[in-house]
Amino acid sequence: MTELTQNPAVGSAASDDSKAGHPMWSSRLAFILAASGSAVGLGNIWKFPYITGENGGGAFVLVYLLCIALIGIPIMVAEVAIGRRGGCSPINSMRKLASRDGLSKRWVWLGGMGMIASFLILSFYSVIGGWALAYVGNSAGGLFVGASSESIGAMFGGLLSDPYTLLMWHSLFMVLVIMIVARGVSSGMEKAINILMPLLFALILVMVGYAMSTDSFGAGFSFLFSPDFSKLTTEGVLTALGHAFFTLSLGMGVMMAYGSYLPKNVSIVKTAFTVSVVDTVVALLAGLAIFPLVFSNGMEPGAGPGLIFQTLPIAFGQMPGGVLFGTLFFVLLVVAAVTSAISLLEPVVEWFEEQKGINRLNGALIGGLSIWALGILTILSLNEWSGFHPLGMFERFEGKTIFDLLDYVTANLMMPLGGLFIALFMGWFMSKQAAENELSIGNGAAFKLFMFILRFVTPAAVLVVFVYNLM
Ligand code: PFF
Repeated sequence: MTELTQNPAVGSAASDDSKAGHPMWSSRLAFILAASGSAVGLGNIWKFPYITGENGGGAFVLVYLLCIALIGIPIMVAEVAIGRRGGCSPINSMRKLASRDGLSKRWVWLGGMGMIASFLILSFYSVIGGWALAYVGNSAGGLFVGASSESIGAMFGGLLSDPYTLLMWHSLFMVLVIMIVARGVSSGMEKAINILMPLLFALILVMVGYAMSTDSFGAGFSFLFSPDFSKLTTEGVLTALGHAFFTLSLGMGVMMAYGSYLPKNVSIVKTAFTVSVVDTVVALLAGLAIFPLVFSNGMEPGAGPGLIFQTLPIAFGQMPGGVLFGTLFFVLLVVAAVTSAISLLEPVVEWFEEQKGINRLNGALIGGLSIWALGILTILSLNEWSGFHPLGMFERFEGKTIFDLLDYVTANLMMPLGGLFIALFMGWFMSKQAAENELSIGNGAAFKLFMFILRFVTPAAVLVVFVYNLM
């Protein structure tokens, strides 16, 4: 992270929190890029469309948007603020702030739970990143050209049924992530992201353009944007809430870790807002690119995790320049996935460095290889163990493989729970003065509204969704 500079001016601006010497982002833009790099990833392009399809479309999207606005953005602000004030890795920031404000040491668990969630998420995230890698090759090899939706479906089915191929791509993805984290995210890489992320955005726009040329654009559009509440279940509401956390990388300390590098003079509120809007727009555009294709090819919106891998290749196979666009698209999807994956491994490594004196290379290796090994469970869930449902005796977990459970437990339980405690910490436990200092929006109506949302609205919303789902 070497847009992080040892900028003395910034260092002194931050020195009231004894952070002199702690590296800082060189600018607000550098932070926005890194935070959006973490937020924008497979969650937007792979997960959002398929869970929207499974949950009936419009009503689900509306709940998701409400969750982003009422819960996601306030929690992002709180998380970044706590991180900036703490100035260390999440666990140590929580320890420091709790002791400074005379609070229970148990707040450290908030950081600890986040780290466990990072481990679990990265283990399956990397397997899906591997699918994207495999599709770079498929596209470049011209395998999509003129292919029917059946043969594209069979190609995807073939990939999932072959554990060794999946393992190879999963390993390659993890090697990439470990290498980058071990070297420290270089400024060269940040410059590359600076170009590649807008390029991904442009390519998604190309895909939306293609979708507009099909006769099902209207059907796709209204699937996404006209809510039919009869299709929404309480579990769907929990999924929307969980996804708001997943897609914004919230509730597990990642934004806290990034916040610890943020100079004091940068507005957290504006920055969090920008990152959330960028993330949401990318997801909605991905939906707009994909659903028209689903309908024009007579596919099921609820086809599950393979949705983008079974729809987009059809378009790439038919459009002019499809080999180039397709290859570029999957390369950029891998880049987006890698920048998110880095943010999952980085806090673990940072903690190893602070706590155990394990250097960056060894930290990245120990952390990365354990996560890689855990990923094998996800790979097997897709084929050999697809019939193994470890918690099948509970109605809620019926038919869920280990992969499904990892996804469910992290996104739907651990992240919202982490977010709840982050909101409670800033809303009720951190001193009001500190909150005011971090937000720097004065102490007038805007501040009071924000604190009201953080103290009451956000926690109540998370709790209500939880309680409904337990009943
Ligand atoms: N936000 C990422 C995505 O949407 O793909 C996934 C993610 C990254 C989740 C980092 C959590 C996290 F801490």
